[in-house]
Amino acid sequence: MTYLITGGAGYIGAHVVRALRRAGEQAVVLDDLSTGDASTVPEDTPLAIGSVLDRAFLDRVFSEHRVTGVIHVAGKKQVGESVARPLYYYRENVTGLQTLLEATVEAGVKNFVFSSSAAVYGMPDVDVVTEDMPCAPISPYGETKLVGEWMVRAVGAKYGMATACLRYFNVAGAAMPELSDSGVFNLIPMVFERFTAGERPHIFGNDYPTPDGTCIRDYIHVEDLSEAHVEAAHYLAALPTPQNITLNVGRGEGTSVLDMVELVTEVSRHHELPPVVVQRRPGDPARLVASADLISAKLDWKARHGIRDMAVSAWHGWLHRHPRG
Ligand code: UFG
Repeated sequence: MTYLITGGAGYIGAHVVRALRRAGEQAVVLDDLSTGDASTVPEDTPLAIGSVLDRAFLDRVFSEHRVTGVIHVAGKKQVGESVARPLYYYRENVTGLQTLLEATVEAGVKNFVFSSSAAVYGMPDVDVVTEDMPCAPISPYGETKLVGEWMVRAVGAKYGMATACLRYFNVAGAAMPELSDSGVFNLIPMVFERFTAGERPHIFGNDYPTPDGTCIRDYIHVEDLSEAHVEAAHYLAALPTPQNITLNVGRGEGTSVLDMVELVTEVSRHHELPPVVVQRRPGDPARLVASADLISAKLDWKARHGIRDMAVSAWHGWLHRHPRG
């Protein structure tokens, strides 16, 4: 098959492109390069530079490259920014998806994998979240992902398109330093940034109802995540009748902020800068851990990397991007 990977020059998309190629599939990257990096696209993989909001451009890409499946990774993903710029998030994530789905339908493409997020769950008060739990996002970002899932399911049902919604948990690490996340919006890179500035990392609150008082998250290595996309695409291609599948992509294992900060400190050898507890950050659920039962039952997939691999590879990526420390 020939898969169009939107956002394929970004952190997650670049990993998906490699996983697809390893699986023997053809990849075409579509990216507006607003946050992506063209140099991460393999030389023999076509790169179409443009926006998912540009319908004429999308139509050209579909027909020029004879696309047979879509993996839609492009999107805006910063929770805080989505609160400050809700309309921008709705345009990029919702109108962008709508435009892409219109082009997908028009091109007669029958497989569509959508990047969703654990942010659709909001603040669930359970040990592990299962896919059938009610969704109650608490940020415009999470809302755009939930609306996106609705749109994908409705369009799939109407047009006989097999669709997968993958709810990512906390993505970390890199398959190689060049592919590491260039942003500093999540816990691990934020700790590196503090270290680089000679400052102590911040822990946002230690009075949560968890064993060490800090928030618990389910971290997933980006390479495992990228392989889940390939398996989801293969699952869709093998379905006798088109349907939707919605899956958590996590390991089903929680790690506290304190444990992660200690691991990152050890890996980067910054013991001289112990963490300091500061105020809670608004909107953080105490615990967000996936049930990974459904994904392991439905797909030929299992996470292979633990949190140490994520911390070590993220550190190598950081050193690559900040060679002078
Ligand atoms: N944290 C700190 N100190 C920091 C940075 C983060 O204590 O310097 C804490 C946060 O408060 C949170 C945990 O580390 O408790 C993880 O925070 P991240 O910002 O790394 O990730 P989130 O869990 O907030 O968000 C992630 C993704 C979102 C997605 C969400 C789903 O980044 O895109 O999971 O719940 F929406």
